[in-house]
Amino acid sequence: MMMLLRGPMCFCLSLIFVHGLLLVSAAAEDYSRADFPADFVFGAGSSAYQVEGAAFEDGRTPSIWDTFTHAGRSNGANGDIACDTYHKYKEDVQLMVNTGLEAYRFSISWSRLIPNGRGSVNPKGLQYYNNFINEIISHGMQPHVTLHHDDLPQALEDKYGGWRSRKIVKDFTAFADVCFKEFGDRILHWTTFNEANVFSLGGYDLGILPPGRCSFPSRTDCIWGNSSTEPYIVTHNILLAHSSAVKLYKEKYKTTQHGYLGFNIFIYWFIPYTNSTNDMMATQRAFDFYVGWFMNPLIFGDYPDTVKKNAGERIPKFTKYESIQVKGSCDFIGVNHYATLYVKDNPSSLESDSRDVSADMAIQVMSTDQRDDKPKDVFPVSPMGLYGTLEYLKRVYGNPPIYIHENGQQMQRNGTLNDTARVEYLQAYIGSLLDAIRNGSNAKGYFIWSFLDGLELLDGYNSGFGLYYVDLDDKERKRYPKLSAEWYSNFLKGRSTSQSQIIAVDQTISSLGSHFSH
Ligand SMILES: *[C@@H]1O[C@H](CO)[C@@H](O)[C@H](O)[C@H]1NC(C)=O
Ligand SMILES: *[C@@H]1O[C@H](CO)[C@@H](O)[C@H](O)[C@H]1NC(C)=O
Ligand SMILES: *[C@@H]1O[C@H](CO)[C@@H](O)[C@H](O)[C@H]1NC(C)=O
Ligand SMILES: *[C@@H]1O[C@H](CO)[C@@H](O)[C@H](O)[C@H]1NC(C)=O
Ligand SMILES: *[C@@H]1O[C@H](CO)[C@@H](O)[C@H](O)[C@H]1NC(C)=O
Repeated sequence: MMMLLRGPMCFCLSLIFVHGLLLVSAAAEDYSRADFPADFVFGAGSSAYQVEGAAFEDGRTPSIWDTFTHAGRSNGANGDIACDTYHKYKEDVQLMVNTGLEAYRFSISWSRLIPNGRGSVNPKGLQYYNNFINEIISHGMQPHVTLHHDDLPQALEDKYGGWRSRKIVKDFTAFADVCFKEFGDRILHWTTFNEANVFSLGGYDLGILPPGRCSFPSRTDCIWGNSSTEPYIVTHNILLAHSSAVKLYKEKYKTTQHGYLGFNIFIYWFIPYTNSTNDMMATQRAFDFYVGWFMNPLIFGDYPDTVKKNAGERIPKFTKYESIQVKGSCDFIGVNHYATLYVKDNPSSLESDSRDVSADMAIQVMSTDQRDDKPKDVFPVSPMGLYGTLEYLKRVYGNPPIYIHENGQQMQRNGTLNDTARVEYLQAYIGSLLDAIRNGSNAKGYFIWSFLDGLELLDGYNSGFGLYYVDLDDKERKRYPKLSAEWYSNFLKGRSTSQSQIIAVDQTISSLGSHFSH
C-alpha cells in the first residue's frame, strides 16, 4: 500500500537505473594513472581520533568518540595512542611521499584545537596542525581537511546535547572560523562533515556509533535516546551548521583564500532484490533515505517527499531562509563508498506507531555476497557499485564535483602484509571510477581508506583498511608497507600494475611478512 505514496517520477527514475546499469560491462582493468585527467587527485586518508593518539596530551580533552571507546564500545579498543601520528607525523608524511600520494585527507580534532568546544584556542593544538599541514605542503601534496569526523567535544555533548541542539550551529561555525582563519591560507579543500548519514543513523537511531544513543527497549548498551526523533533533529542541525560555516567562509574568506567547501555522505549502491515494482520502489526509497535525506536539501533545498511523508511530524521543517541557505551550499560532495546491498520492500515496518528512521524506510537490505568460502570480513568486490553511485549523482543531482573520500577493503588485522584481496578490490574499483569518468562523471579525486591501519569505528583494531600495517605491540608503532601500498605506489608513479609486477613486489614484501607470522 505504501507504494501509492510514491510519486511517479521517482518510480521512473529507479526503472531507468536498473536498466541503464545493465548495459555496463566489467570495469576497466588495464589502465594507468595517465588515463585519468591530470588535475584528478589521488590520495589516502585518515581521521584524527583513528590515528593521532596523544588523547590526553597537550591540552586535548575527550570527544564523544573517546567516551564511546572508553565505555568498551569498540571491541574494548580506544584511540589513546592509536598510530601515534601526533608524534610521528613527519615520518608519516615521508611515507606518503614514498608512496607517491598526491593528496592526504585528515581531520582536525575539535577538542584538541578548542578543548572546551568553545572559547579559547589551544596553542599546542594549533601548532600541531600548522606543523602537519606545512609538512604535507612542503612535499608538494594537497591537504584535504575534514572538520567533524565523529569526534564532537564531549564538553558540548554534556553542556547541551551536542548535535541534538540548535546551539551546535553557533559553536560549529566558530570552530570552523578558527580553522579557516588559522589554516585557510594553505587549505583549498574543506569538508565540514564526514558520513553525516551514518553519524545520524548509527549514533542516534541504532546506537552503535558515538554518541551511542537509541531507544530500543531490547538494547542495553546504548545511552537512552529517541530513535524516532533524534536522527531527524540531528540531521537538520548538521545541515544548518554546515551551511552556516559555508556562509561564513563565503563572506569572510573566499575572496582571499579561494577554497572549496564540501559535505560527505556514505553511499551504498542499492539494487532491487527482484524486478518487482515494489522492490524497485523500495530501492528508490533506500536512496531517498540514505542519500536524498542530505543531498536533496543541499541541491534542491528540501528533504525528499518520501522521507517527509514517512517521518511525518518527526522531521523538522526548513524555514524559507534556511532552505535558501542550505541549497547550493556545497562546492563538492564527498562520497564514502564500500559496498553494494540488495533492497527488498518491507511495508509492514510502517505499521508500527513508534517508528525509528530505519522503520520509516520500509526496506529490508541484504548482502549481495553469495560466497560461502570467503572470510566474512572481506567486502565482496562489486565495482559496479561505485560506477552506479557516480552515475546516480550525475543523473539525479546534476553531476556535482565529487571526491571519493573513502573506498577500500577491510581485512583481518593479523600481521599479514600480503593483502591480495585489498589489491584486487582497489584495482577493480579504480577501474570502475575510470569508467564513470569516461561516461561524464564529475569525479575530481579518489582517496583510499585508509593510509594506516587505525582504530576502526565498529571493530577497534581487529580489522584494518590500511595500506600500511602498524605494529601495536611495538612501542615505536613501526609501520610496514603492505602489498597494496606497493601496488598503489606503482600505479601513482605510472609504473605497471600488471599481475607479474605484483608477484615480484609480493615476494619482496613476504620477507617482511614473515616477521609477523606466528
Ligand atoms: C552514460 O551517460 C549517459 C548520460 O548521462 C547515460 O544516458 C548513459 O546511460 C550512461 N551509460 C551507462 C553505460 O551508464
Ligand atoms: C520520542 O519523542 C517523541 C516526541 O517528543 C515522543 O512522542 C516519543 O514518545 C519519544 N519516544 C521515546 C522512546 O522516548
Ligand atoms: C531483472 O530484469 C533483468 C532484465 O530486464 C534481468 O537481466 C535480471 O536477471 C532480472 N533480475 C531478477 C532478480 O529477476
Ligand atoms: C589474515 O587474514 C586474512 C583475511 O583477512 C587471511 O586471508 C589470512 O589467512 C590471515 N593470516 C593469518 C596468518 O592468520
Ligand atoms: C599472497 O596471497 C596470495 C593469495 O592469498 C597467495 O596466492 C600468494 O602465494 C601469497 N604470496 C606470498 C608471498 O605469500
